[in-house]
Amino acid sequence: MSPPEGLQARVAARLSALREARLSRTLRAPRGIDLCSNDYLGLSQHPLLKARMIDAASREGCGSTGSRLLRGERECFSQLEQRFAAFKATERSLYFSSGYLANIAVLTTFPEAGDVIFSDECNHASLIDGIRLSPAKRVIFPHRDADALARLIVENRGEGQAFIVTESLFSMEGDCAPLTDYAAICRATGASLVVDEAHAVGVCGARGTGLIEAAGIGRDVFVSVNTAGKALGTSGAFVAGPSWAVEFLVQRARPFIFSTAPPPAVAAAIEAAMTLVASEPERRHRLSELSQTLRSCLADRGLQVAPGTSQIVPIVLGDNERAIAVADALQTIGFDVRAIRPPSVPPGTSRLRVAVNVGLTEATLERFAEALAEAVRKTSRCSAVFS
Ligand SMILES: Cc1ncc(COP(=O)(O)O)c(C=O)c1O
Repeated sequence: MSPPEGLQARVAARLSALREARLSRTLRAPRGIDLCSNDYLGLSQHPLLKARMIDAASREGCGSTGSRLLRGERECFSQLEQRFAAFKATERSLYFSSGYLANIAVLTTFPEAGDVIFSDECNHASLIDGIRLSPAKRVIFPHRDADALARLIVENRGEGQAFIVTESLFSMEGDCAPLTDYAAICRATGASLVVDEAHAVGVCGARGTGLIEAAGIGRDVFVSVNTAGKALGTSGAFVAGPSWAVEFLVQRARPFIFSTAPPPAVAAAIEAAMTLVASEPERRHRLSELSQTLRSCLADRGLQVAPGTSQIVPIVLGDNERAIAVADALQTIGFDVRAIRPPSVPPGTSRLRVAVNVGLTEATLERFAEALAEAVRKTSRCSAVFS
């Protein structure tokens, strides 16, 4: 068999194994009521963002034409970065074309051989991949377990630098890291705290800057990663931190250096999103109210909801088949929710990741909770998801 045919056969076998394990995905455009996107504040469709983006595109063109260190640099990027740094109360920030790349950049630029990275077991794939690419030793700690983390640091700490890596609001669990405890561990051990604020920025904290602000631990954080593709309704991500760290990223971070800069018009849309986060706090307050409503509606119907108050509400169903069946049933009646399966979540914990956004109403959430309870009941082999 010639190599290409051999490769094709191997890929066909892999695809078939995915289908058999009910792990095969389909690309499905949005259809129905949005209960799964990360557009928590509804900004992706906001007229101000659209107008600013269109205006900037007519001025700046569509593409940036090069990497930031070559002809892709624009004043709008550095202005936006200054504004974002002020927003996060850090010295400086650097804008990347995606959160995935920003995490890879942080974790492949700072940790060196001889260092140790301590990573929450539920961290996002972009953090996991960054850690895998780094030459540092990695130690996984149990989800949100500050005591276990402190013990592991004592057991595994070598001569090198220690890094603690965590999401602040977890993307698949909807719960929050004990940031205050981690900050204390960092003060006691000299470890550097890296916080991925992907799902918290724009949503949490009095000014909507994230959970670092809410926990009041800004001084104890080394760098944070803040995506713009979720609550900020656009795309890309900012690494925010001290000037010396950001300067090192500019000089050394390969995802920054070896990639075309994002379209400049996106910067204009992000500016608009930041203006709205500052001037319309009622958006995040409404999100919090609606999240509470959904959580109560589900609990009222006997569905087990992970503790928490956030807009991310996971309904853990267990096996892949069941998660797909429940998602299909809900999609058929007009609710856009998706089954989340491994490797996005650990095997045996397939789930619906319900995400609330401010475009929803209490009445819709009631209807959805009813339909979800019904769909879960119909696929029930055991009552594990009912409390
Ligand atoms: C916690 C977390 N970090 C990083 C990312 C990656 O961000 P982006 O989608 O901008 O690449 C995601 C995206 O889902 C995420 O959930």
